[in-house]
Amino acid sequence: MSKPRIYITRPLPEPAMRLLDGAVEYRMWDRESEPVPRETLLREIVDVDGVICLLTEKMDAEAIERAHRCRVIAQVAVGYDNIDVRAATRRGIFVTNTPGVLTDTTADMAWAILMAAARRVVEGDKFTRSGRWKTWELMGFTGQDVHDATLGIIGLGRIGVAIARRARGFGMPILYHNRHRVPEDLESELGALYVSLEDLLRQSDFVMISTALTAETRHLIGEPQLALMKTTAILVNIARGPIVDQRALYRALVDRKIWGAGLDVFETEPVPMDEPLLKLDNVVIPPHLGSASIRTRIKMASMAAENCVAAVTGRTPPNVVNPEAQERR
Ligand code: GLV
Repeated sequence: MSKPRIYITRPLPEPAMRLLDGAVEYRMWDRESEPVPRETLLREIVDVDGVICLLTEKMDAEAIERAHRCRVIAQVAVGYDNIDVRAATRRGIFVTNTPGVLTDTTADMAWAILMAAARRVVEGDKFTRSGRWKTWELMGFTGQDVHDATLGIIGLGRIGVAIARRARGFGMPILYHNRHRVPEDLESELGALYVSLEDLLRQSDFVMISTALTAETRHLIGEPQLALMKTTAILVNIARGPIVDQRALYRALVDRKIWGAGLDVFETEPVPMDEPLLKLDNVVIPPHLGSASIRTRIKMASMAAENCVAAVTGRTPPNVVNPEAQERR
């Protein structure tokens, strides 16, 4: 019997490839640092039983229509806003993601960005290398204290909770806003107080965005919301770029309505070089590195491989986001 065929949109680390060996036949876009061109993707997925993809691939209704044999789209990420899940469900295609394995790694990075922005680490590093460091200045590169500051978390899911746990070590009061309140025992473990979005923005010294991008959260933070924040506050976004209205954020930073920002994600990625935010010193801008530890990226790729193999061999994959697709198969 011939093996199921899959398409992989980027080389995966060795341990993940080993999970595919023997179970499937695959074709793969083999360039590490270049996304598969759209036309190639559309051509390659026509006859396959499964696709393993990254968040750089737009798996929209058109792509899903093309993949007429496909049983699974296995995303190597926890967020999957690049995939039209409704279109996939209509065609009985499972969509899978990689929850859990990246929670702590992403929370670590949220803290790295928050602290880098608060204490001007990136700016200071650039200064040291520039040769302009002439003396130790009393008020040079002074930033905002992290310890004892109020942390407001928008989206208290797995990653938000992991961020909150770390905040306890800094003695930070925690406010959160979420679609639903979390159970009381979790609130008391974290010392987290549920508040409206407006109160969170007004009272927080750091506003951390760790919610999924959906129709409801697109531009959740725009001009009116930024106007509520303290002039000393720092906004950190480790979720998805479009949750923040970037133009409004630029204005708020230039006009010193808020003090700084840390953005791991952007409305358009990669960030276009004419993006005005790139010119501001009070913004820290890693290239979407939230889950980027060696161990975690290997785990994510392996999880996606397992999800894919399960689906193409007739099993329900462990991390399905649309179990209802089963009924359409
Ligand atoms: C990364 O952004 C992810 O969603 O896993």
